[in-house]
Amino acid sequence: MSFRIQPAPPARLNRCQLFGPGSRESLFAKMAKSAADVINLDLEDSVAPDDKAQARRNVIQAIGDIDWGNKTLSVRINGLDTPYWYRDVVDLLEQAGERLDLIMIPKAGNASDIYAVDALVTAVERAKGRSKQLGLEVIIESAAGIAHVEEIAASSPRLQAMSLGAADFAASMGMATTGIGGTQENYYMAHGGQKYWSDPWHWAQTAIVAACRTHGVLPVDGPFGDFSDEEGFRAQALRSATLGMVGKWAIHPSQVAMANEIFSPSAQAVAEAREILAAMEEAQKSGAGAAVYKGRLVDIASIRQAKVIVSQAELIGD
Ligand code: COA
Ligand code: MG
Repeated sequence: MSFRIQPAPPARLNRCQLFGPGSRESLFAKMAKSAADVINLDLEDSVAPDDKAQARRNVIQAIGDIDWGNKTLSVRINGLDTPYWYRDVVDLLEQAGERLDLIMIPKAGNASDIYAVDALVTAVERAKGRSKQLGLEVIIESAAGIAHVEEIAASSPRLQAMSLGAADFAASMGMATTGIGGTQENYYMAHGGQKYWSDPWHWAQTAIVAACRTHGVLPVDGPFGDFSDEEGFRAQALRSATLGMVGKWAIHPSQVAMANEIFSPSAQAVAEAREILAAMEEAQKSGAGAAVYKGRLVDIASIRQAKVIVSQAELIGD
C-alpha cells in the first residue's frame, strides 16, 4: 500500500442531487422544499438556446431570493464548447450572492477544462472580494472524460464531486442505446436458453469511484431517465451504492426519496457496523488483529469498512 493516506472527500451529504431547468422558475421553490441534499439549477442541456440568457437571470435571482435551507446549492453551467459558459461563470460570481456553493462543469474532457474554469472563478472571486470559496463539481460524460478521469479528479482543490452522465456518455462512446442509465435490453449473457443481464455502466462507474477515492472527491451516479420505472431506478442506485458511489441525481421529484433511502445506511447496517467496531476493540485489547463476528471473519480492514457506514450515519444524524 502507498505510504500516502487516501484523502477524505468533503464531509457533507450528497445522497440526492435534484435537477431543474433554469428556465422553469416555478420549480425552484419546490426544489428548495424537497428532501434532496443538493440542488442543481441547470443552465445547460435542459435549457433551449433562446432561453439561455433568461435562465441565467432567473437562477441568479433565485439564489438570493429563495430559502435553500442547509442544502448544497449548485448551478450547472454550459459546456466549454459553447459560447455561453464564460458569461455563466462571470455573471454568477459577480451577481449571485454568496449562497451559491458549487458550479457544475458538464462534459469535462481533461484537467485543462477544470483549470480554465478554476482560473476564471479565481479571478472573479478576487476582483469581487467574495469571502466564500466556490466549489466545483464535474460530469464525466464523454470518451475523453473517462479516458482522463484520474487527471480530472486531481485537477483542482475546489473539486468536490464527480458524476457519471449516462446519456451523453453513451452518445460519445457510440453505445447502441438511447436509454439514460439502467438495464440495456441487448447487454446480456446467455446460458441454457436464459438471458442474464449485465451492467454496461459498470466500468465507467468503477473508474470514477477509483479516481474520486484516490483524490478525495465524492463519486455520484447521474440521471436515470425513465422516472416511471421505480424498479429500474432502485436497481441502478443499489448497484452504484454497492460500488462506492455516495448518491444519485433525481430528474423528477419522485426519485428523491428512493435515492435518500438507498444512499443512507439502513438501521441494521449501522448497528452491525457499530458492533463490528466494538468486537474489534475487544479483540485488540487482547492483542488479536482478527475476531469472529456472527460466524464470519472481521479484521482491521473491517474497521475501515465499518467506519464508512458509521461516519455516514453520523452525517445524517443517526
Ligand atoms: N423539481 C421539483 N419539482 C418538480 C420537478 C423538479 N425537477 N419536476 C416536476 N416537478 C413538480 C411539478 O411542478 C409538479 O408539481 P405540482 O404537483 O405542484 O403541479 C409535480 O412535480 C409533478 O410533475 P410532473 O407533472 O410529473 O412533471 P412535469 O411534466 O412538470 O416535468 C420533467 C417533468 C422531466 C420535464 C421535469 O421533471 C424536469 O424538468 N426535470 C429536470 C430536467 C433536468 O433538469 N435535466 C437536466 C439534468 S439531466
Ligand atoms: Mg449531459
